[in-house]
Amino acid sequence: MTKIVNSWNDFDPLKHVIVGRADHSCVPPEEPATSEKVPVDSPMRGMWGPRPLETVEKANIQLDNLARVLEERGVKVDRPSPLNWNQPVNTPDFRTDSMMTCMPPRDTLLTIGNEIIEAAMSFRCRYWEYLAFRPLLSQYFEQDPNFLWTQAPRPRLSDKSYKHNYYDEKISIEERLVRTANKDFVTTEEEILFDAADVLRLGKDLFIQHGLTTNRKAMEWFKRKYPNFRIHAVNFPGDPYPIHIDATFVPLRPGLIINNPHRKLPVEQRKIFEKNGWQIVDAAMPAHKEPPPLCYSSVWLSMNCLVLDHKTVIVEASETNQLEQMDKLGMNVIPIHFRDAYAFGGGLHCSTADVYREGSCEDYFP
Ligand code: NVA
Repeated sequence: MTKIVNSWNDFDPLKHVIVGRADHSCVPPEEPATSEKVPVDSPMRGMWGPRPLETVEKANIQLDNLARVLEERGVKVDRPSPLNWNQPVNTPDFRTDSMMTCMPPRDTLLTIGNEIIEAAMSFRCRYWEYLAFRPLLSQYFEQDPNFLWTQAPRPRLSDKSYKHNYYDEKISIEERLVRTANKDFVTTEEEILFDAADVLRLGKDLFIQHGLTTNRKAMEWFKRKYPNFRIHAVNFPGDPYPIHIDATFVPLRPGLIINNPHRKLPVEQRKIFEKNGWQIVDAAMPAHKEPPPLCYSSVWLSMNCLVLDHKTVIVEASETNQLEQMDKLGMNVIPIHFRDAYAFGGGLHCSTADVYREGSCEDYFP
């Protein structure tokens, strides 16, 4: 019997992975959920349309290279089938003038054991993104009799799903931080909304970031879906744009996590790790002062690494501080150049989605 899909965490030996593709990527027009995430001084504000072809080509070179490095190390790599993203999305509830990309797969697909869940994402421009992964999921379904293929309840993304007076370009970073601390985010609780990249999988425990892309109703959905798991809502008060946990709180092996020093896990939420002997270490400072042009993410993609096993990690080659810290933490580091892919949705972890890691569902926090 072929077992294709199995992954319970981000650090057990990686054997099969999906690596994204940048083809046809667009900057989407502003919409209720995206406005909040584009910094006010970003040149992306107000612009939309296909990304410049040369940037797509450069990103694809680095994505192809990541795939090659993984294959050389014996990891099977699958790639999505990009659509023409430069098309409107029309539903009975909304219209938006273009889609975005099928980067990064980590936002769209959540692997929990033998199951892959297509996430209930809050961006209207990402409504059809899962279609790029359908040929692969369909193939896994044919090959693996135990593969569970799940689509989270499809959100309608009507106007009721967003707070329309939430975004204000005059709002200061301090005010944004107050909102984060108060857990006041752009989405409402009208329906279940989450990006897969907000979910940190540690065996029987799922740590889910409550922020701009994931709401409380999603946590409730996970609780009901996995009654034998422990679902923890986590938040990082130092983050003015809280989306996706993987440039904030990144496990390297059982017992060791790096935490963004500007977005520390609150004392109360640290207890479960400390009680179980886990070490939470401040991540090294990024080597860069600014993200690359037309990038949604922060400089903290420095810590968005791809762990291949408990001793091996791929880190972006120019992130010298992070490379050095990994070495000190006892990891063998594979540096690869990846900054040309950042603008398409993130770093090395973002740009991949797990299909198979060795290992089983451990209880790390009994
Ligand atoms: N909030 C994150 C997203 C990274 C994957 C950031 O620091 O940009």
